[in-house]
Amino acid sequence: MIKKCLFPAAGYGTRFLPATKAIPKEMLPIVNKPLIQYGVEEAIEAGIDTMAIITGRGKRAIEDHFDISYELEHQIKGTSKEYLLEEIRSLINSCTFTYTRQKEMKGLGHAVLTGEVLIGNEPFAVILADDLCEGENEGVLKQMIELYKKYRCSIVAVMEVEKEHIHKYGVVETKNLEDDVYIVSNMIEKPKSEEAPSNLAVIGRYILTPDIFEILKETKPGAGGEIQLTDALKTQAQNSMVLAYKFKGKRFDCGSVEGFVEATNYFYNKFLGNN
Ligand code: G1P
Repeated sequence: MIKKCLFPAAGYGTRFLPATKAIPKEMLPIVNKPLIQYGVEEAIEAGIDTMAIITGRGKRAIEDHFDISYELEHQIKGTSKEYLLEEIRSLINSCTFTYTRQKEMKGLGHAVLTGEVLIGNEPFAVILADDLCEGENEGVLKQMIELYKKYRCSIVAVMEVEKEHIHKYGVVETKNLEDDVYIVSNMIEKPKSEEAPSNLAVIGRYILTPDIFEILKETKPGAGGEIQLTDALKTQAQNSMVLAYKFKGKRFDCGSVEGFVEATNYFYNKFLGNN
């Protein structure tokens, strides 16, 4: 089944400067955990055992986070604080982390293509750690993998978005297939609100079949002059089939300050046991 999850994590995080000057934006914490750890936990819950992370310059803190810190282990062993390391220890032991660097920032499509060397010729998941998701009964990726088992094609997670925000997303045009599942007939990256084909926006969870790599190699730069995953998925939708899945759960846009604060409040309440 799907065993690998790609995490594009090479971006500069300019919206969070100066916080992201020396630390990767994926390492910004929501309460006591870095954003990317929430993504890794969601992938593990979905049965994934290999985390393929696309990094770049200045991102070494991510590799250190998912590794043992012998000095810390030594300091904390046998003290009353040892339990604070238990969660991350067991996470590190339950999967493998692989890394490659994206040398130039040429867009999400380019980041995914950079990951080909880590993924090979098999279907895989993609998590954009900025989009922090909490599934209703099970994680969003787990829901999508269930759907993949049935249809065996690429799947994008979508949600309804207000017209005034639609220009920030990839937007799908669809035909209904079953409850909350749609066949994609067209996709547009960051359309003007009057050109958006629907109010269904793609959020940062994907299941991709490996033919996407060949398509990405042929995909010309699109919106913002970048190689867009959305454009490659549009080609895939026309060549074969791509589904859009309206997931059950919440999503926080932690790439924006408002979304980040909203997620912090939500997870802080959870942390206190109020949710
Ligand atoms: C990326 C994708 C876009 C998607 C969005 C979800 O855009 O290109 O299609 O809707 O993630 O967060 P970005 O937010 O990186 O500009």
